[in-house]
Parts: sequence; C-alpha cells; structure tokens
Amino acid sequence: MRIAVTGASGFVGRAVLRAAADAGVAAVGLARSGEAAARVEAAGGAVARIAALDAAALAPAFADADAVVHLAQVGAERRGQTYAAVNVEGTRAVIAAARAAGVRRVVFYSGLGVAHYGMREHCTNPYFLSKLRAEQELFESGLQVFVFRPSYIFGPGGELVPALLAELARGAVTRIGDGAYRMQPIAVADAARLVLRAAAVPFVVPYVFDLVGPEPITYAAFLERFAAVARRAGRPATLHVEEIPVEQALREARAGGWRGMAADELACLLCDEVGDAGPLRALLGAELTPLDAVIASAIAAEPAT
Ligand SMILES: NC(=O)c1ccc[n+]([C@@H]2O[C@H](COP(=O)([O-])OP(=O)(O)OC[C@H]3O[C@@H](n4cnc5c(N)ncnc54)[C@H](OP(=O)(O)O)[C@@H]3O)[C@@H](O)[C@H]2O)c1
Repeated sequence: MRIAVTGASGFVGRAVLRAAADAGVAAVGLARSGEAAARVEAAGGAVARIAALDAAALAPAFADADAVVHLAQVGAERRGQTYAAVNVEGTRAVIAAARAAGVRRVVFYSGLGVAHYGMREHCTNPYFLSKLRAEQELFESGLQVFVFRPSYIFGPGGELVPALLAELARGAVTRIGDGAYRMQPIAVADAARLVLRAAAVPFVVPYVFDLVGPEPITYAAFLERFAAVARRAGRPATLHVEEIPVEQALREARAGGWRGMAADELACLLCDEVGDAGPLRALLGAELTPLDAVIASAIAAEPAT
C-alpha cells in the first residue's frame, strides 16, 4: 500500500508516517517548507514539496497513492491563513487532485464537535463549520471517504504536556471554569494506526467514526490523573488549581489569545464532546491504549525540569 499525507509535518501527520514505516507502508508526506520537509523525513516519510494546497501542486504528489490522508488544516485564523482558504478550499483542492491522480480514497480528520454544530455553544463556531463544510465536500465528491472526528489527540510531542508539567512543577495549574466539560483523549499512536486501517479496509458508503480514546473524562479529573501519573514518574507535581472564569478566558482569547490560544481553540477544549470507542476497537482489531499509559508515555518523552 502507498499513502500520500497532507499536513504530514504536524503532530498527527508525523505519527502517521512513523506508523506507516513500522507497518511497511510506503508514505509520501507533503511539505511546504524546508523545515516541514525535515520533520517529514525525520518521521520516516518520503518528501513531496508543495507550494500550496492547490490541485495542480497536489496531483503529482498523489500519483500512485492508494489513499490520500488529508490532515492539513488550521485550528485558528492566524497570519493570513483562513478556515475558508485552508480547511474548505484546501479540501476541494485535495478532492480535485485525487481525481486527477486517479486516487479513489480519502481519509480525513474532522472534529468531534461537528456532530453538535448548532446544538451546543462551543461546537457552534467558524472552525467547526469549516470542518463540516469540508466533510460535505468530501461526501459529495464520489470518492471513497473515511472521516474521523477526533477528540483530543494525546501523546509525545503534543503541546499540552510540557505546559502542564511546567505548571505542576510550579504548583499552580490554571483551569478554565469548573473543568466539568468532558473529553476522551486518544493516543496519537492509536490514531495513526487507525489511519492505516482506514486506508486499507474495504467499504463503499462513507464512513464516519468518532476518534476517541477508551475513557471519557472531565477536564478536572484529567488534571488529577495527569498529576498522579507525573508523580509516579518522579516529576514534581503539586496540583493546586487556580480557576479562571470561562468568559474571562474567552474574552482574552478573542482579544489576542489566552496563553497563545484563540477562542476557537478554547472552544475545542470546552465543547464537552465524547463518543463511542467501540467501532474504533473493531476497526483496529485491538484494544485502545489506556489513558494512564498514554499520559505516561507523553510525560516520559519530556525532559526533566
Ligand atoms: N491534535 C488534536 O488534538 C486534534 C483534535 C481534533 C482534530 N484534529 C485534526 O487532526 C488533523 C491534524 O492535527 P495536528 O494536531 O497534527 O495539526 P498540526 O500539528 O497543527 O499540523 C497541521 C498541519 O497542517 C499543515 N498546514 C497548515 N496550513 C497549511 C496550508 N495552508 N497548506 C498546506 N499545509 C498546511 C501544517 O504544515 P506546516 O508544518 O507547513 O505548517 C501541518 O503539517 C487536523 O485536521 C486537525 O483538525 C486534531
């Protein structure tokens, strides 16, 4: 099997390339810059340089692929990158290029909040709408489409882990609101292996899967679990929570960023979305990695402070 991966230099993309290398699957990773190309190579992928997410640039990189794994996206509108241009038009370009290159299958990462767009406050924003539009473009494309709707994807190299470790070491962890909103973190290594299954499994109608881990958990409980695993790993971890009101965090995020996060990125944390992991277990043919093991491996990858 041969796959072509957009967004290959990102957190999930690199894990997909590593999983492909382990499984003996040929993978080409698309990269816009020299820096991105180096990350693709380090993760074991062959590099295809592209100038932009447009069909003419993408089609040659998709040649001979059995499936395109489309991960390139923006989770916030920064530095001139818009949801319309990247998440929606980029997906249209991927569809056109897949057709031109004769690729029949696209595996796409959407967002878990899409399922409740218009039904819940934090699912109803331009980011989730752009993912919904991208899904619709794919469903109408006539291609074989496999959509994953991820909860939080967790593992070595993620952004949350070093930030939380630093806060625990300082003894002051900021939590937005009461932390009662839920999430269902999935190991990035499991997410990557599921991509390879989706690229290969036979199907006809579009598939839509929740991409969730084995255990739904509130953010407040997640912080406690994270601190407990960190302590077991010998890290300094005092969980003293400092709560800031949801409205204040959102106001600051809209006014320029709350700790570097845009309002739509905060919404992904606050959206209180969980799902059914059963279909994923069946697709993977194995159990998903338990939450404590995922946290432990992510912490182990961080240098001791
Ligand atoms: N991580 C999560 O917890 C999570 C949760 C829900 C959904 N997802 C979905 O999973 C997918 C992968 O997420 P991730 O965490 O791996 O994201 P990421 O680390 O931010 O990586 C994003 C990737 O997209 C590429 N990209 C961005 N704008 C582009 C453009 N205009 N043209 C071409 N490439 C572009 C980036 O390339 P450069 O390196 O060149 O910038 C990078 O390779 C995304 O679709 C995301 O929506 C992730």
